[in-house]
Amino acid sequence: MAQIKVTDRDGVEHEIDGNTSFTLMENLRDLDYGVAAVCGGMCACATCHVYVDPEWLAKLPAAHSDEKDLLRDLSTYRENSRLSCQIKFTAQLDGLKVRIADDE
Ligand code: FES
Repeated sequence: MAQIKVTDRDGVEHEIDGNTSFTLMENLRDLDYGVAAVCGGMCACATCHVYVDPEWLAKLPAAHSDEKDLLRDLSTYRENSRLSCQIKFTAQLDGLKVRIADDE
């Protein structure tokens, strides 16, 4: 287990115990304020969109081209956008801060 600091769409901060055998999306989708993850992690829907705290962004593996293409089509895209299904949540990411992106 490792901590994830999650800010919901209302700006409320939560701290959850993340499971390090799951992706970030799998840790977020069961929360009432979490992500929908409609495609189940296939990098096809972008409903797992989060904003990663800038201090954490460089600590994550780089996004591959499919992820970048999907993100850049979103009206809610920002420089720190990531698809949470493409991020394996590891113990090294203990304390990771993300914000749930607004719906399209
Ligand atoms: S769950 Fe669909 S793109 Fe991440």
